[in-house]
Amino acid sequence: MTKKYSPSSKKKLAAFICSAGAAAFFLIMPNGLLAEECKTPTPEKIEINIHATCSEIPGLPADTKKTSDFSHKLHTEKYLMGKSGFHSTPYTDDFTCVACHNGATSQEEITGADRCDRLTAAVSGQGGGENYKKQMHSMCVDCHKNMKKAGETTGPTKCTDCHKK
Ligand code: HEC
Ligand code: HEC
Ligand code: HEC
Repeated sequence: MTKKYSPSSKKKLAAFICSAGAAAFFLIMPNGLLAEECKTPTPEKIEINIHATCSEIPGLPADTKKTSDFSHKLHTEKYLMGKSGFHSTPYTDDFTCVACHNGATSQEEITGADRCDRLTAAVSGQGGGENYKKQMHSMCVDCHKNMKKAGETTGPTKCTDCHKK
């Protein structure tokens, strides 16, 4: 099963206008396109399940797990702040995206790309589908474990807390 990701035209327009950046654009914002979308192009919550997004990446493990309701926005704007030291990929509080979106240098690079193309490049760049589970666990579980070790409030380290079913 393949499911291609294609951002809505409104989303594409938002990405374009936001990348153009200037506050002056707010004056000519088309109807229904909120200024808020420029400040926070990050989805609130997402389901992480690569097979549903891009199953054609070669070498992926069997589809046995997913993580539903991942609080993408809270992680991005709050949980990661000042915590780069606990994470496998260094990042700055100004641009936390790169902590999980391998090699990204701007938000537009992530929001403007075709999701499956972007994921294929990210997974291939880190050892391919065969290495996917390890990539994800080092992106997620390791930070929770490192923070827990340091006595900080953090996310789950137990399998079933991330993989509810
Ligand atoms: C902090 C959250 C978290 C914890 C804890 C966690 N995982 Fe995962 N795991 C993920 C995410 C996210 C993925 C990627 C899911 C996807 O894209 O399908 C994943 C992927 C996997 C996969 C690859 C298969 C698939 O369908 O993607 C397996 C197998 C797996 N985890 C098993 C485990 C086991 C066993 C444990 C406990 C030892 C565990 N996980 C703990 C987040 C977690
Ligand atoms: C804690 C890890 C993490 C951080 C930080 C993070 N993301 Fe994500 N993001 C993910 C994961 C995992 C996915 C699901 C797989 C994928 O599409 O890459 C995702 C998916 C996305 C998607 C596609 C979602 C959809 O439903 O179409 C967009 C867009 C996105 N992220 C943008 C961003 C931007 C912009 C930032 C920085 C402001 C950011 N992300 C920071 C982990 C993160
Ligand atoms: C900077 C380290 C860090 C990284 C990287 C990280 N987390 Fe978390 N996570 C946290 C912290 C901190 C909390 C909880 C904060 C709190 O409860 O105040 C949390 C909470 C959670 C929770 C509990 C529910 C919630 O959202 O509050 C889940 C589930 C979770 N994380 C999954 C993930 C997954 C999946 C990834 C990888 C895509 C990930 N985390 C990456 C630090 C991290």
